[in-house]
Amino acid sequence: MSCRRFKLEQVAVSLLALAMMLSGQSDAQTQYYGKLIGSFPSPAGQGGVAGAVYAVDANRLQIVGFSFDGSVTAQFRAGSTGSPSGSEGVLVPNEQGSTSPLGVYNNRKLVIALPGGTTLDDVKWFSVWGQNSTLGHVTVPDNFVYPRPRNIGEFSRRQHQVRSGDVTIVNAKEFHIQNLHYDGFGPDAFFWAGNQDDRPSPRGFKVPDHRGSSDEKLPRYSGQTINIMLPGDVTVYDIKWLSMWCIRFTANFGEVFIPDPADLNVPPLVEDVEIPPMPMMNCEELHRDMQVSWTLAGENLDVELAGRVEDGDYMAFGVSGCNDRACMVGSDVTVAWYDGDAPRAVDYTLKAYSQCSGASGVCPDDRVGGTDNNDNITGRRVNGITRIRYSRPINTGDTTTDKVIDPSQNMYISWAIGPINPSGVAAKHHTRVEVSDQVKLMFGREASDMCEMISSAIPAPVTPWPTRKIKGDQVTNFTVRIGPTGGRRGYEAITGLPSWGIAYWLNGLLIPELELKRGWNYTFIVEGGNDTATPERYHPFYITDDPTGGYVQKTPAEQQQVRVFAGVDENGMPTAAGRYCEYNNPNGDTSETSETFAEYAGTLQEDCMPGQAAQFTWTPDENTPDLVYYHCFTHQYLGWKIRVVDEFTSGAAGVSAGMLAVMGTLFAGALLLGHI
Ligand SMILES: *[C@@H]1O[C@H](CO)[C@@H](O)[C@H](O)[C@H]1NC(C)=O
Ligand SMILES: *[C@@H]1O[C@H](CO)[C@@H](O)[C@H](O)[C@H]1NC(C)=O
Ligand SMILES: *[C@@H]1O[C@H](CO)[C@@H](O)[C@H](O)[C@H]1NC(C)=O
Ligand SMILES: *[C@@H]1O[C@H](CO)[C@@H](O)[C@H](O)[C@H]1NC(C)=O
Ligand SMILES: *[C@@H]1O[C@H](CO)[C@@H](O)[C@H](O)[C@H]1NC(C)=O
Repeated sequence: MSCRRFKLEQVAVSLLALAMMLSGQSDAQTQYYGKLIGSFPSPAGQGGVAGAVYAVDANRLQIVGFSFDGSVTAQFRAGSTGSPSGSEGVLVPNEQGSTSPLGVYNNRKLVIALPGGTTLDDVKWFSVWGQNSTLGHVTVPDNFVYPRPRNIGEFSRRQHQVRSGDVTIVNAKEFHIQNLHYDGFGPDAFFWAGNQDDRPSPRGFKVPDHRGSSDEKLPRYSGQTINIMLPGDVTVYDIKWLSMWCIRFTANFGEVFIPDPADLNVPPLVEDVEIPPMPMMNCEELHRDMQVSWTLAGENLDVELAGRVEDGDYMAFGVSGCNDRACMVGSDVTVAWYDGDAPRAVDYTLKAYSQCSGASGVCPDDRVGGTDNNDNITGRRVNGITRIRYSRPINTGDTTTDKVIDPSQNMYISWAIGPINPSGVAAKHHTRVEVSDQVKLMFGREASDMCEMISSAIPAPVTPWPTRKIKGDQVTNFTVRIGPTGGRRGYEAITGLPSWGIAYWLNGLLIPELELKRGWNYTFIVEGGNDTATPERYHPFYITDDPTGGYVQKTPAEQQQVRVFAGVDENGMPTAAGRYCEYNNPNGDTSETSETFAEYAGTLQEDCMPGQAAQFTWTPDENTPDLVYYHCFTHQYLGWKIRVVDEFTSGAAGVSAGMLAVMGTLFAGALLLGHI
């Protein structure tokens, strides 16, 4: 890593330049709702109708800021000829699929679907229709092209055997990548997107993979078809490229480019307006990735299996082969999966613990003298969760292949997840009921839903941790180390920016905000790594008025725009690079399962290289602005804010007694080594 020299010139900040640099990153752009058709009149007329109408795709509309006072009997109506009238056109159901008169709406966002096969090609006007007249309407322009998914071709094939089939922008946040291959050997590889450079570059941010994870490096892909979602508020309109990228080695394994925004007419991501099927009466969690729900309907049992399963994996569920425990052999199960776009739920019997061969093994009933008794099979795949429903009689009469379900008995059950082989038969499971984890169900029990929402590829909302603050009245020494970013509850929530996966930790806290007093001496003890030959272990610490950091990545012109206050020598070389200390997640990221930040920090393990910390003392003075930042000299977005004050603000510092205990734990190792 070569560090360009620079003069420590204190050039006044150009706010404009900073704003431009920042907006180049990924801060929330104005939201994308679809292609605008038009706006209802301002709420002067009858009913106070207002709102802007956007096309989502061929047959859905999104109305943003919709208001209607409900004083007139009205419905949505659309027509293909002339202008709004009661004799032309069709009623359009409201956002709940109902055509009853519209209620009161106050600045709402609605997604509505045109009825039965109507597309926007058939629509000339869309109206809030009172009994005799339009209360407000929009006219679809001639030659209107509604948003549709966009094929952007294959990943370029650069390194690590990356190749793919076509990549489709499904909607403004989601990519569908067909037939993806990658050898899995990149040490620090992630999906990576950016817009600051025209080609993949270090100036980007992570995009969660098909598991919704951006904490773990990319796994091997061997021809899977996957969907991935852009993080936060970022849409495809905000990025220029998507790559498979190794952060440590700043290496591009392959990329696709996003067409120019002006030429990118893709659907927005909207909530599904499909009316969900009737909920089941009962639900049990079988595994982190699988749940079973059921309703006993007379002599039939309706079952829904829900799982976070890969394409080509089945979920199997049924009655155990043994009456007194969970056992595989003899089980009567349904094997459910998606065969392309078709949900399947096949009645199986497990004659032996082996592949189906002849009349033995794990076989569909109809191959071994029984019949397939499953009926009414439906499925949904939403947000990475596969749900398949089927019904079966509780007594099929198939004595050789099926068990009789007795609703009043606690029955042992069997379940498993595994791959479907290419001939459409269940292959050996990879996840199954544990012998130690005996599950019994009484199918006729009083209705009870014991399931949490199954976690999906679109992560459920999380509660961000509160921003940590350290007031520089009691604490004047700060130990600086590298640590994880706390998933979606930490760096991302605090800064509103996608993270790099690592960030500075000060005195055991993830990017705390510091409050420091002019005229006081503050000592920074830096253990961010001094190994210039290994970029991922070289994080010199400095203090600047630049919110972005990463000074060496800037052009000379950009460097002129920022001031550097500490952490560099008179030649502009970084000085504060001590030995490398990192807080690691030895058991994987726990940010979403930890109740509090303290609990999360308690799961981390400290890892320090031998050597000394670097150290400098900084005294903010009357020339120091009120807001400055601590950052890494070589990488952007590792640090956070320092508020510089003449008098400390009153009130407690943001660090509680509990936090101090955590800091104590995190520091114990270092204390033993005598480095603090
Ligand atoms: C609609 O028109 C009919 C007949 O012209 C009239 O009787 C009725 O009052 C009108 N309704 C409204 C809500 O204006
Ligand atoms: C499938 O659905 C039909 C129609 O609702 C119903 O009559 C039939 O009993 C169902 N089959 C089973 C096995 O539940
Ligand atoms: C702060 O660091 C300085 C320099 O390493 C040391 O002399 C001093 O004792 C430290 N102060 C505290 C309160 O730890
Ligand atoms: C800060 O450090 C300087 C140099 O060591 C010393 O002269 C000064 O008294 C210190 N100021 C305070 C407020 O401790
Ligand atoms: C990093 O610092 C340690 C002392 O703490 C020193 O032994 C080592 O040589 C330094 N490494 C580099 C690459 O400068």
